[in-house]
Amino acid sequence: MSKNLQVKVWRGKEAGDFVSYEVPRHESQTVLDVVTHIQRHLEPSLAYRFACRVGMCGSCAMTVNGQARWTCRTHVAKVASNDQLEIAPLSHLPVIKDLVTDMREFFDKWHRAQGYFQGSRSRHDEFAAVKPDSAERRAANAGIECIGCGVCYASCDVVSWRPDYLGPAALNRSWTLINDVRDTQQQDRMRAVAGDAGCHSCHTTGSCTERCPKHISPTAAIAGLKRVTARAAVRGKL
Ligand code: SF4
Ligand code: SF4
Ligand code: FES
Repeated sequence: MSKNLQVKVWRGKEAGDFVSYEVPRHESQTVLDVVTHIQRHLEPSLAYRFACRVGMCGSCAMTVNGQARWTCRTHVAKVASNDQLEIAPLSHLPVIKDLVTDMREFFDKWHRAQGYFQGSRSRHDEFAAVKPDSAERRAANAGIECIGCGVCYASCDVVSWRPDYLGPAALNRSWTLINDVRDTQQQDRMRAVAGDAGCHSCHTTGSCTERCPKHISPTAAIAGLKRVTARAAVRGKL
């Protein structure tokens, strides 16, 4: 293993440039370790975002050598080519500073896709019993571990062509809720995702699924949404 990594890091906002740093190489070093080294020892004004460091919070995603990744769980050994790294903010989101993007639009789209639970029971009612092996429960479980990292969103070409597209993460969330038998607002949710900027805009290219660090398949979730919204439209229920 060579002693140093040559690291280019995006500095600035939408306008800016890559700045080069030399970072000592270590065993089991992650890309987030590299960024942290730069901020602590070489460039204290470097802005970046992280919280948990263990793949739970979803805040550390960046573009590493051209691909969106969660940096706290990405080992340098896996991604550095010739001991070189290029680290940039996530694509398709406004840059606040350096490696920090503005996630507002990303989460606003979860809201627009009705990606929030709306039930009818109160704390005085019995718990709803949902069978673990039911088809709905399994479909919801398949997408429920999303950490909101934005890797899929930054990897989706349709988001770059049409910025109003709800995107893979919001649609995946919507699909988990459509399969939640306790939820009472399914028709509204289907209307929310069936419009022009919704599930039918997905071209099924699969980059979201290929890159999702939690091994979720937004592509399959979106296919499910296409099915149920088409069926509802035929029955005049949209
Ligand atoms: S499958 Fe659909 S949502 Fe996923 S990257 Fe491709 S176009 Fe985007
Ligand atoms: S679906 Fe995967 S890539 Fe997309 S936000 Fe959730 S965890 Fe991240
Ligand atoms: S720092 Fe929380 S997922 Fe990477």
